[in-house]
Amino acid sequence: MLSLERIACRYGRIMALRDVDLEVGAGEFVALVGANGAGKTTMLRAISGLTPPYQGSVRFKGRAIERLAPADIVGLGIAHCPEERKMWPRLSVQEHLRLGAYGRRDRAAIASDMDRLFETFPRLAERRRQRCGTLSGGEQQMVAIGRALMSRPSLLMLDEPSLGLAPLVVQQVIDTVRAIHAQGAAILMVEQSAAVALQHADRAYVLESGAIVKHGPARELLQDEDVKRAYFGGGSTKSGGGDGHEEDCTSIGLGAGDGAGNLGGAGG
Ligand SMILES: Nc1ncnc2c1ncn2[C@@H]1O[C@H](COP(=O)(O)OP(=O)(O)OP(=O)(O)O)[C@@H](O)[C@H]1O
Ligand SMILES: [Mg+2]
Repeated sequence: MLSLERIACRYGRIMALRDVDLEVGAGEFVALVGANGAGKTTMLRAISGLTPPYQGSVRFKGRAIERLAPADIVGLGIAHCPEERKMWPRLSVQEHLRLGAYGRRDRAAIASDMDRLFETFPRLAERRRQRCGTLSGGEQQMVAIGRALMSRPSLLMLDEPSLGLAPLVVQQVIDTVRAIHAQGAAILMVEQSAAVALQHADRAYVLESGAIVKHGPARELLQDEDVKRAYFGGGSTKSGGGDGHEEDCTSIGLGAGDGAGNLGGAGG
């Protein structure tokens, strides 16, 4: 359904992605993992038209989309739930959801989609008139996902949906993503928590310094020695422990090449 071929993106002189190939099949759940600065957000932005690639092609449902405007890409069925959630603090839950449907004309269907969303997220239903600035982090993430769903996407892209959330809330968000997947949408999810991503995805790609270094069935990557070492601290060492085991982490992730090995919050 989605296919990236030899994509390259840059910000001025900084090469953020080089020669990247990636596929997402209809209804597939694909995860993208990698350390801070690996290029995960850039990959989603390249697909949604926010950071158009200067080289390579992006095809969606058989159409070249790499030169289309972001709004047209949404119209074709790709929704992007960005890293920083992009909320307007003074707008209500309901107003955010309406914004998600801005490209649609089918008023009746919009209303029934919103009703269904409130059934899926009773917490948001109770707070439909509350300003988003006063919602908790987990509730804001629900609004961000709900807003993306209001465009009726066949591919939902999520950038670190679990960022900054407590473990229980992370589980709720993941359950929500799985439910959306079960209803037929394809998912492309960026996650720094490789454990979370690999447990739930069908397939995964590992991105390091702008290039794909591994890809395959998520279950296999979960067992992969390099992945385990970089993301699960393989054996006795915890990943990112900063206790002199950097050599163990050179092959994958942890940004060994660019010194961005922190596993904490995202840069922005
Ligand atoms: N607007 C920008 N201007 C200049 N450089 C940028 C810009 N956005 C990203 N970059 C650079 O591009 C590279 C990839 O960034 P990107 O945000 O895609 O990484 P990421 O994998 O999403 O990281 P994180 O896990 O921290 O969110 C980084 O080196 C970053 O500094
Ligand atoms: Mg990012």
